[in-house]
Amino acid sequence: MSVDDSSQAGEAAAEATTDAGAQQSSGPYVSEDGATMGRDFVIPGVDPAEPDPYRFHTGRRRDHGGEDAIEIIDLVKQFGRARILNGLNLGLPEDQVSIVLGPSGTGKSVLVKHIVGLLYPDSGDVLVHGESIPNMTDDELFEVRKKFGLLFQDGALFGSMNIYDNTAFPLRQHTDKSEEEIGEIVNRRLKEVGLIEAIYKMPNELSGGMRKRAGFARALVLEPAIVMFDEPDSGLDPVRTALLCELVREVHAEHGGCYLVISHDLNTARRISDFIAVLWNGKIVESGPKEELFDSENQFVSQFLSADINGPLAMD
Ligand SMILES: Nc1ncnc2c1ncn2[C@@H]1O[C@H](COP(=O)(O)OP(=O)(O)OP(=O)(O)O)[C@@H](O)[C@H]1O
Ligand SMILES: [Mg+2]
Repeated sequence: MSVDDSSQAGEAAAEATTDAGAQQSSGPYVSEDGATMGRDFVIPGVDPAEPDPYRFHTGRRRDHGGEDAIEIIDLVKQFGRARILNGLNLGLPEDQVSIVLGPSGTGKSVLVKHIVGLLYPDSGDVLVHGESIPNMTDDELFEVRKKFGLLFQDGALFGSMNIYDNTAFPLRQHTDKSEEEIGEIVNRRLKEVGLIEAIYKMPNELSGGMRKRAGFARALVLEPAIVMFDEPDSGLDPVRTALLCELVREVHAEHGGCYLVISHDLNTARRISDFIAVLWNGKIVESGPKEELFDSENQFVSQFLSADINGPLAMD
């Protein structure tokens, strides 16, 4: 499709051009850091000759009305020649459930790994409660990780431990609580996620939905200020996904904190989130409160959030 006939795309392009500053009107695309696309890097799924891969990226940050718990600043990450994150900027609000949505392979999991310090940026910064994650020593990182509850794509339970021991694991690892205290917390958490009957079962005896709930219980035992779920809905049927979303909302309402959910499911986004950011080609297209993003006039955001087959994404 052509975008030349769209005044809105024209505006977006104008804004993106102003943003990029040194961006030329023709010739290969040059990033903010001076790297030339096609020569210094490629972006997966983008034609290296594309003059402006960010014509839809206004980078607009709609106000969420609170403080940011996590700030991502000009984050660049390249694997070999593949530049996955290319100057990503995003603020994730305190005490809200945020979701980062984007097509498969756009770097959502890579982004999460930077926030928890499992990957280091080529340039840029990640601040958690104002502290720079990439600049921490191993000891500082170990300490700050106690703030995080993590739920990876497959629940990532230890296959050789029953559900009780899986849930108790972070407490045994990170605290000097007695077994009695640990037992009390584990029971409370497993009850909260409806798994009290499965407490002595092994992970392979549970359904996919139960494993996710066990992973959620384990992510919560240290009462984390920040909870991250990478694809909590993958492999679940629609009803189990809806129930899991409801559980996440309930637990968040009870305990608060900054939650970050990664998904490409629109129903999950509608059910779970207060705040949405859309990631594409290594940058956030736009971010803001859920209702505003679902109403966005940005062509890419609107196509993605309405699952429209016509629009900028169809060009790929
Ligand atoms: N450690 C790594 N080394 C090399 N390439 C990597 C590494 N980790 C991720 N990538 C590449 O980065 C890109 C983004 O991967 P990522 O897993 O973040 O995508 P995603 O948005 O989470 O996708 P999905 O929705 O399918 O989970 C992919 O092209 C992947 O191959
Ligand atoms: Mg992923």
